[in-house]
Amino acid sequence: GLAVPVAGSLAACGETPQQTGRLLRSAARLPKAYATPLPLPPVRRPRGELIEIAQRSATVEILPGLKTEMMTYDGVFPGPTLETRRGEAVTVRHTSTLTLPTATHLHGGHTPAKSDGWPTDLLVPPGFETKHTEHGSSHGSSHGSSHGRGHGSGHQGMADPEAKVTKGSRDYRYPLEQPATTLWYHDHRMDFTAPQVWRGLAGFHIVRDDEEDALSLPRGERELPLMITDRSFDEDGALRYPAIDPELLGEPGVEDRYMAGVLGDVVLVNGAPWPEAEVDGAQYRLRLLNASNARRYALRLHTDDGKPVGFTQIGSDGGLLSTPAEHAEVTMAPGERFDVVVDFRELAPGTTVEMRNGLGRGRTAQVMRFRIARRASDDVRIPQRLADVPPPETPGGAVVRRWHFRREGVHGRRGWGINGKPFDPAVPQAQVPLESTEIWEFFTDAHHPVHVHLSPFQVLRRGNHGPGPMDLGWKDTVDVRPYEAVRVRVKFERYAGRFLIHCHNLEHEDMAMMAGFETI
Ligand code: C2O
Ligand code: CU
Repeated sequence: GLAVPVAGSLAACGETPQQTGRLLRSAARLPKAYATPLPLPPVRRPRGELIEIAQRSATVEILPGLKTEMMTYDGVFPGPTLETRRGEAVTVRHTSTLTLPTATHLHGGHTPAKSDGWPTDLLVPPGFETKHTEHGSSHGSSHGSSHGRGHGSGHQGMADPEAKVTKGSRDYRYPLEQPATTLWYHDHRMDFTAPQVWRGLAGFHIVRDDEEDALSLPRGERELPLMITDRSFDEDGALRYPAIDPELLGEPGVEDRYMAGVLGDVVLVNGAPWPEAEVDGAQYRLRLLNASNARRYALRLHTDDGKPVGFTQIGSDGGLLSTPAEHAEVTMAPGERFDVVVDFRELAPGTTVEMRNGLGRGRTAQVMRFRIARRASDDVRIPQRLADVPPPETPGGAVVRRWHFRREGVHGRRGWGINGKPFDPAVPQAQVPLESTEIWEFFTDAHHPVHVHLSPFQVLRRGNHGPGPMDLGWKDTVDVRPYEAVRVRVKFERYAGRFLIHCHNLEHEDMAMMAGFETI
């Protein structure tokens, strides 16, 4: 593709040319790396068809000896890991005593529109005042908050006539008619997704099925979900996050500094700073999730004596690959998942394996460490045939739909948007016939991870080449680089209604780099 330099304003505030965010330095005393044991979120399975989650604020210890007040699912960060099975529908009942509205999205879920967490379909705590008229007892037009985005989009106070506000509790219904994979749930509130996820509203949701259970893969304690995030802390342990000041955002140039995405200087895995996991000398399945607001990672493993340990990728966002793929490095943009197996069988007890981030600097180049505690038996043999995934071939005669992510020319001026428009919850940008296959092309002038709701896609092309090494299998989030058109094949099935396409840099999403589309 074209070699285009990254714009100065972006390079200047990021950590590396690949990072485009604003780095927030912590004032708190930070722990030594690899001194905290790796935590695993509590696992929750449905009772009957129900899982109940209480959204509430909670005080959590993230940095040793300090207290961090967070917005949580069930009092923990990450939220509980939900474990469900393909085809076994569940209702997740969220109750809220948070002081702010939320909208919960199951990322990667094949979910009907009314449970998809549309950004103005809000859950508010009991007694919460909504500015707009409520229709009936619990439904109302909802976009009560109005904060300017500084690009004069005329969004202030925009009402979404179809939005539904519910008070106290809200049921999300997930049919889960989709292959086994790693999903995650997180907040999706209009304009405030980034700060609310930063403050704690994210958790794993794992789908299992019989086909995957029948395969020889590491399981039980040898299957580790790893949610990687970055955060920044004040002296007393409180989270740091820049205030969004609409006045400031109105000034040319200021938007760049504040809203190119927020990076923290502390890397957390499952909510623990630079943790260490004690492991057997065996194969492990790692369900890697980049749940960071804006940070990318290029993950590599090496032993303390410098030997690289590779990754065998078995799955992607939407399920298993057809056949395993070997990688020396896994590059992850926000929202992406990589299901990988790592092999510690040849390593002597006492050996440590560090996971490093090639895109970080200093402490953000460190992620976590494994310590081989003991030899162990392991009869797992990764099958060469994992799942039936159609080859990524371009279908003849399919509609090509282009989605241009950029910050110029939105409403004729500087601003964030897709195809020249900032997100408007009342006006979908496209109508897509259900059950037809389309080619979607994503194009950007900066680095944006593009995420599509409802159905996974297969990457067909990246620039002038075929899919890249991180584009294998079923994806729902693809890392789109400047001036490199990415073409995907997508088929939306079963559910009619309104869904989203957006940048998964959460600050960009909040700056309205998002569009609705309607399946019909
Ligand atoms: Cu992970 Cu629309 O989001
Ligand atoms: Cu973006």
